[in-house]
Amino acid sequence: MELLRIEGGMPISGETRVYGAKNAALPILAATVMVAGTSVIEDVPDLEDVRVMLQILEQLGARVRWQGVTSVEVDASSIHSTNVPADLMQRMRSSIFLMGPLLARFGDVTLSKPGGCVIGQRPIDFHLRGMRQLGAKIDEQHGYIRCSARRLIGSSITLDFPSVGATENLMMAASLADGVTVIENAAREPEVEDLAQFLQATGASIEGAGTDTVIVHGCSHLHGTEYRIIPDRIVTGTLMLAAAATRGELTVHGARVDHLGAVLQKLRDTGVRVQVDRDIITVKCDETPSAVDFRTAPFPGFPTDLQAPFMALLTTAKGTSVIHESVFEARFKHVDELQRMGADVNVDLRTAVVRGVPMLSGARVTASDLRGGAALLVAGLMADGTTEVDGVKHIDRGYQAIEAHLSRLGARIERVTV
Ligand code: EPZ
Repeated sequence: MELLRIEGGMPISGETRVYGAKNAALPILAATVMVAGTSVIEDVPDLEDVRVMLQILEQLGARVRWQGVTSVEVDASSIHSTNVPADLMQRMRSSIFLMGPLLARFGDVTLSKPGGCVIGQRPIDFHLRGMRQLGAKIDEQHGYIRCSARRLIGSSITLDFPSVGATENLMMAASLADGVTVIENAAREPEVEDLAQFLQATGASIEGAGTDTVIVHGCSHLHGTEYRIIPDRIVTGTLMLAAAATRGELTVHGARVDHLGAVLQKLRDTGVRVQVDRDIITVKCDETPSAVDFRTAPFPGFPTDLQAPFMALLTTAKGTSVIHESVFEARFKHVDELQRMGADVNVDLRTAVVRGVPMLSGARVTASDLRGGAALLVAGLMADGTTEVDGVKHIDRGYQAIEAHLSRLGARIERVTV
């Protein structure tokens, strides 16, 4: 079994460049199957989830090739299957992003129903209802979902909640439908906007991406293109929190400041110094941060993906912080592990009360999800003594070679097999 062993107390400092966003790469790679030709996606992070997506594309018949270490070429002209392999689907929920593209281009797709995950039930009812409104026939049997349609027809769809995945799936499907589709109460996340810009680069006609009303004028086909994806705002946020939690000074290059408004504001509210210069963010922390309250929310609100790492920072802040998780119903699994390190956190349903303690102490802890794992990394970096984090596979899904990255910034961290 692999684990990450951390000697706490070293300030995370220096300069680093953020890489491409996982949550932009996955839907964009899925969207390449809509192109009867070759797409080149640049700044693709080398992550477990990305590898699984590429495996799926290959099993569907696409030709996939890495160009160097950060660009991927996908030739989808040779796709011969619309059946998403169940074993790969089980390994990564984001396989659901293949529903819209395969249905739109081939009129048919079969996927296994994604199960729940530790952060919540995560149903896909918004996706299915929207596909039905576009005219798809949906059969659900024996844990499989088959969607079929001779031709998708544009329609007006209102989402009950601004779901990122449902907005992206429906935007992709509508791009090759007959007529106009309007998605109301759409998600406004930067990754949604990035997907829309990729689709536009392939010839799709989309307005309003990044707002709560997305209008898609369907077209008959999409063409190949080259596209660079946005930087990862969640990785940027995690690194900034690691620097603040260890009283370091870190400069991140290549970040999108406009994607991090709520996070930078909350960080400033703790007293951490944040300096912004175009796409360069510098964080400096030389005294104990103050407690703050926050509530997660769809973009431009505070991102749920940084709730756990931010909580780790607040475990040793001055005072008591109240955190409300409004997006997922079970996203406090990291709390038990932080308590093992001496944190004083009480959870009541979707609210956590964090009373700052003077210091965390290193311990053996287990990551049960990606961002919960990131919180344990931040806690281990700030704790007294040695922390061993297992469940590393969760962390690898969203952070590229994390131990090497953090070591370059001063951490004493290694990956060991026990
Ligand atoms: C995306 O997940 C991200 N994943 C998540 O990041 C992120 O936490 C989430 O958006 C919210 O920002 C990717 O982009 C690959 P949602 P997604 O649909 O699309 C409910 C990470 O750590 N809902 O916006 O699955 C759902 O249960 C991951 O990188 C329905 O009820 O999130 C949740 O409570 C974790 N029915 C809420 O909406 C539906 O059909 C938001 O989910 C769809 C969603």
